[in-house]
Amino acid sequence: MTDRPGSLPFEIITTADGSPTARFGDNETMHSLRGAFSETVYIYGTALDRASQLLSKEPAESPSISPRTLSLGLGLGYVEILASAYAAKNGQTPKGESFELVDELTASFQAWVYSRPEQLVPHSLYDDVARRTSEITGITVGVGEIRAGLAKSLDKKDWVLRPAMTLETIFEQKFSCVAFDAFSSKSTPELWSREFLDRFLSTACEQTCVLSTYACTGHLKRALVDAGFTLEIREGYASKRDSTLAHRA
Ligand SMILES: C[S@@+](CC[C@H](N)C(=O)[O-])C[C@H]1O[C@@H](n2cnc3c(N)ncnc32)[C@H](O)[C@@H]1O
Repeated sequence: MTDRPGSLPFEIITTADGSPTARFGDNETMHSLRGAFSETVYIYGTALDRASQLLSKEPAESPSISPRTLSLGLGLGYVEILASAYAAKNGQTPKGESFELVDELTASFQAWVYSRPEQLVPHSLYDDVARRTSEITGITVGVGEIRAGLAKSLDKKDWVLRPAMTLETIFEQKFSCVAFDAFSSKSTPELWSREFLDRFLSTACEQTCVLSTYACTGHLKRALVDAGFTLEIREGYASKRDSTLAHRA
């Protein structure tokens, strides 16, 4: 790991629920300004819960099974922190992969997980997200446990941090929960194209799979239905009209 290099390609701002997000030069933010944390719990926390329910044969099965999760993209690590907390609640460590275009975000997250010298994103930001996860979701798992779970999974390669996802990305193992949190189709059109989505759904998703995203585009809905998913169009978070939660059992 190098010394703290350069400067952030974005600025960190506070959203209305007090949680942090990143704003880029073109004004696009990583999360809703109404609440980064609340949006993550609504869109991706629900997906983690649903996938766990689908995977656990008996609803009362204890501990329930944590899904192998794909996060696109890592951003500030909200989904990873949530996944680690959910897994810890079930007495497990998280399993999955995160993809991220911006190397500094991956390096910063890794530095926090391993308590190494801070990179561009301050450790206090991740601590804040983990503290919210532990306090607000009612998952009584401490910040230390959330971070230790991630460290253990990264060590064992049960959770892998990968670079940008492209059409050529190969998935060696499939996923039963997908947090499709790429930037908008305006910023990353390739990730929302029918060609990309068809390939992604057939090569990345287990037969039993839940996919959630803040968005609700025509290409996405058609690709999901053609891949055998059942769509649940939910109210979008804050200013967004609709969001997509899809499952295939
Ligand atoms: C909406 S933000 C994700 C927020 C994140 N889920 C979190 O919890 O903070 C979108 C992220 O996708 C990343 N990204 C953009 N294109 C990508 C690609 N092709 N592969 C992986 N990540 C990408 C961006 O750099 C950004 O960090």
